[in-house]
Amino acid sequence: MKRRTLLRWAPLLAAPPGFAQGELLTRTIPSTGEAIPRVGLGTWITFNVGQDPPARAQCVQVMRAFFEAGGRVIDSSPMYGSSQGVVGEGLRALGGAQRVFSAEKLWTSSDGAAQLAATRAQWQVPRFDLLQVHNLLAWEKQLPLLQGMKERGDVRYVGITTSEGRRHREFEEVMRAHRLDFVQLTYNPADREAEQRLLPLAAERGIAVLANRPFREGALTRRLQPEPLPAWAAEIACRSWAQVVLKFIISHPAVTCAIPATRRVDHVRENLAACRGPLPDAALRQRIAAHIASL
Ligand SMILES: NC(=O)c1ccc[n+]([C@@H]2O[C@H](COP(=O)([O-])OP(=O)(O)OC[C@H]3O[C@@H](n4cnc5c(N)ncnc54)[C@H](OP(=O)(O)O)[C@@H]3O)[C@@H](O)[C@H]2O)c1
Repeated sequence: MKRRTLLRWAPLLAAPPGFAQGELLTRTIPSTGEAIPRVGLGTWITFNVGQDPPARAQCVQVMRAFFEAGGRVIDSSPMYGSSQGVVGEGLRALGGAQRVFSAEKLWTSSDGAAQLAATRAQWQVPRFDLLQVHNLLAWEKQLPLLQGMKERGDVRYVGITTSEGRRHREFEEVMRAHRLDFVQLTYNPADREAEQRLLPLAAERGIAVLANRPFREGALTRRLQPEPLPAWAAEIACRSWAQVVLKFIISHPAVTCAIPATRRVDHVRENLAACRGPLPDAALRQRIAAHIASL
């Protein structure tokens, strides 16, 4: 890293006061060996705030706190309304274009190239790190487009997404038949279907995994919030249910990065703090899942 870049970000890389100190946990992307932090930032709903200046400024503050805590992976989609433009605004305000690991999607059955041009105009990054076919929409047509871009060096990684257990059979077939760098799917202690086939297959084929909907769009954290935090949470340095959920997700051997979404600065700090310190072992993972299922 250049000295000037290092100096610019060095003060921001320390953990915020009151949060667990220590190295930010990373995982390598199997197809290249590049390391990325194991907690990122989603933008669906939370960053779709239209043109309202205070709401957009709040999202930029969330991005600032995210970068300050060492975060890099930001995920968006043409499906997420104004979110793409809000991310672009945040990157320009914070000088984050060099730091971000940009994960975008293609979500159209018609002209994919035109949609990508519009998406790039929103982010204003020279090229995306990862482009994913959103919810397998027209994947037979769009995946070759993305693979061609990768061959020309116009994108670094290519993937597909699904969520809430949709079309897992077809998803698995695409994973087996095509060379993918990433898949994105729903995984959390209450949604564990991916453990059966998709996560083992990702590990077998060397595909990185982004875990979406870690909090079931907030329903899971709202359900857990009134429940007392068990004593074992302290063993993995968790001070909230959100952190327990995130540590459960990222401790799965096949998961590369979880991408929780939030509009709150305190929540983004809390979520990134789950990317530090000890993680549950296999026995504690079972205990977490069983305890949450029992509530
Ligand atoms: N098919 C696909 O490709 C697909 C589908 C779904 C999602 N995704 C991606 O995955 C991302 C995450 O999924 P999601 O947005 O559905 O939901 P999510 O991340 O599971 O949940 C977001 C909700 O959790 C709350 N939250 C965040 N941090 C919290 C904390 N520390 N404590 C308590 N509550 C907290 C947020 O509320 P506050 O604002 O109050 O913090 C927000 O309402 C999306 O934004 C998107 O990027 C992709």
